[in-house]
Amino acid sequence: MSDLEKIEKRIEKLREEIWYHNYRYYALNDPVISDAEYDALFRELQELENRYPQFRTPDSPTQKVGYPPLDAFEPFEHRQPMLSLENAFTEEEVINFDARVKKGLGGASCSYVAEPKMDGVAIEVVYENGVLVRAGTRGDGRIGEDITPNVRTIRAVPLKLYTFDGAPEVPPRVDVRGEVYMDRRDFELLNDEQVRKGFQPFANPRNAASGSLRQLDSSITARRPLKVFFYGVGHVERLSFSTHWDVLEALRKWGLPVNPLCRRCSDIREAIDHYHYLESIRHDLPYEIDGMVIKVNETEYQRKLGEKTRSPRWAIAFKFSAYKAITRVRDIRVQVGRTGILTPVAELEPINVGGVVVRNATLHNYDEIKRKDVRIGDTVVVSRAGDVIPEVVEVLKDQRTGKEAEFEMPKACPACGSPVVRLKDEVAFRCLNQNCPARIKASIIHFASRDGLDIEGLGEKTVSLLVDRGLVKSVSDLYRLKKGDLLSLPGFAEISAQNLLDALEKSKRTTLSRFIYALGIPYVGQYTANVLAEHFGSLERLMKARREELLEIPGVGEKVADAVCSFFEKEENQKLIKKLLDYGFTIQDERDYPEEVFDDFWKGKTVVFTGTLNRFSRDAAAKLVTERGAKVTKSVSKRTDIVVVGKDPGSKYQKAKELGITILDEKEFLQRLGIEAEG
Ligand code: IVH
Repeated sequence: MSDLEKIEKRIEKLREEIWYHNYRYYALNDPVISDAEYDALFRELQELENRYPQFRTPDSPTQKVGYPPLDAFEPFEHRQPMLSLENAFTEEEVINFDARVKKGLGGASCSYVAEPKMDGVAIEVVYENGVLVRAGTRGDGRIGEDITPNVRTIRAVPLKLYTFDGAPEVPPRVDVRGEVYMDRRDFELLNDEQVRKGFQPFANPRNAASGSLRQLDSSITARRPLKVFFYGVGHVERLSFSTHWDVLEALRKWGLPVNPLCRRCSDIREAIDHYHYLESIRHDLPYEIDGMVIKVNETEYQRKLGEKTRSPRWAIAFKFSAYKAITRVRDIRVQVGRTGILTPVAELEPINVGGVVVRNATLHNYDEIKRKDVRIGDTVVVSRAGDVIPEVVEVLKDQRTGKEAEFEMPKACPACGSPVVRLKDEVAFRCLNQNCPARIKASIIHFASRDGLDIEGLGEKTVSLLVDRGLVKSVSDLYRLKKGDLLSLPGFAEISAQNLLDALEKSKRTTLSRFIYALGIPYVGQYTANVLAEHFGSLERLMKARREELLEIPGVGEKVADAVCSFFEKEENQKLIKKLLDYGFTIQDERDYPEEVFDDFWKGKTVVFTGTLNRFSRDAAAKLVTERGAKVTKSVSKRTDIVVVGKDPGSKYQKAKELGITILDEKEFLQRLGIEAEG
């Protein structure tokens, strides 16, 4: 073999290896190498391709970006129409669906597959001889838009399919279908960034996913945190499946991510059970689902049942109860936030909206109230999207009796009585009193929030009590609280008081970005706090930063620069920070502590153990991680950061996989502790 041939072979080998590791990571959520090892392979491939561009192929994992922007999207024709689904909202409707299916099959019974219904954007991706050649949106079901360059940038979409783990051979052509979505958290960070750059924020993760996917410039899409789950196939050449479950298995083993919450169900009852399970965990999932899709599993039966014009007879979408409800506005109050902004809130006749009783709904601001013409006494539609605060979306004006009252902003702050002002060019009305109790409460709640210092047990109610009783006037007072103070509050007993004191103590060890965020500087959200922490590395340097220096940081605009400067110029803020440091705050500069350093790895993490470990008892293992700053809990939830899995793990392991939580086996666990594994 010539040298050149050897290089070509090596490049091919690297490509295949990297696609395999992408498969382990994105499709199985079970990587077998570390990020560093992955990066090393990737870099080697990149370097070789740069030196020998003749061996670069479009299906190389390095080719995920780099297309010139388009003027318009070309039409994308679906070989097989992409149908939509009929909806069901009640169990009865689902049972009727099952009855129709049975009837259509002449009495035979089928099995079902139940899948989370992702709330995102449908796409079809065409693979020829395993190579991604085209991708399009659904459009009207027959013709969509060609968004190939954009789909190529999505990390979880492989540019080449392989036959991993005993999958059927990749057919000469297969059109796969799935849903592109965005995790809620990524959506929020993206919106922070949009606002900071002066763009309109997206209304919800689905809009964000859709807007990101429909960019003429694929380099914009490449920067958006898009994800995907595949759920079916359209046209397939020279391969047939006997069940839909086989389809899902094949997709996964070709390297395409399939939602791990898909279930095979032997009858409709099992599917309904799964629906209730999904309903119970939907808020713990990192992404939004709006129901569950039930599909007849046997493909022969699917064919037999056929389809109506727009939807198949063999599938149905079982939607979660509508997130909208109609109720009456009893009153409109204003809430004062930490920066003094007054937000009008509708006080509602309590109403169940998709399983949660809603008593208040935000009206956003005065201009919104006028635009929607919301009046006290109006009958309105309220909606609740995911975990977002419920909002009044519409007034049913034909329900008016004439007794409704228009709302005006108060002239004085409802919490402290100071005059309310509307600054020039601002939508918001504000209370400018720094010592307004409502502002103090809101800033303490922000300080203690999960993204702030994450002080467990310090919620709205407790903060309100502490401020009202004069025990706390500023965040620094929290660290002077004695057990006796807490015991004097309703609802506190020995253990809860001690727990809160412990949580406060723990919060003193924090990271620079969290600390900056917790301070509640106007316009400094999580994203900007990270940017500032990255840039300055220490609180001291940030405090001394001049406006010009701040403006040089990519991503920091005038508003942020001004807000940061004026925050640190204020004597009271300097005093506050000094006090916190005097109370023993240690603020870690994240930049100096790469993940490999074990104690930084564990710090602040919530850890769950499942199964038997060889080297340690559960208690000993728990002690090792708590010593390193982690917290051990018993059950897996969205708050869990790490699950350590020993021999014969229980259902916690499954749940962790489903929630996409980091999983460590015993060997990795030892490595992360800095203990050498035996043997
Ligand atoms: S199956 C014939 N499965 O819901 C089957 N659709 O109206 C048609 N969706 O926009 C679709 N998750 O993109 C199917 N697991 C899932 C889904 C799913 C989300 C979307 C789909 C389409 C709509 C169906």
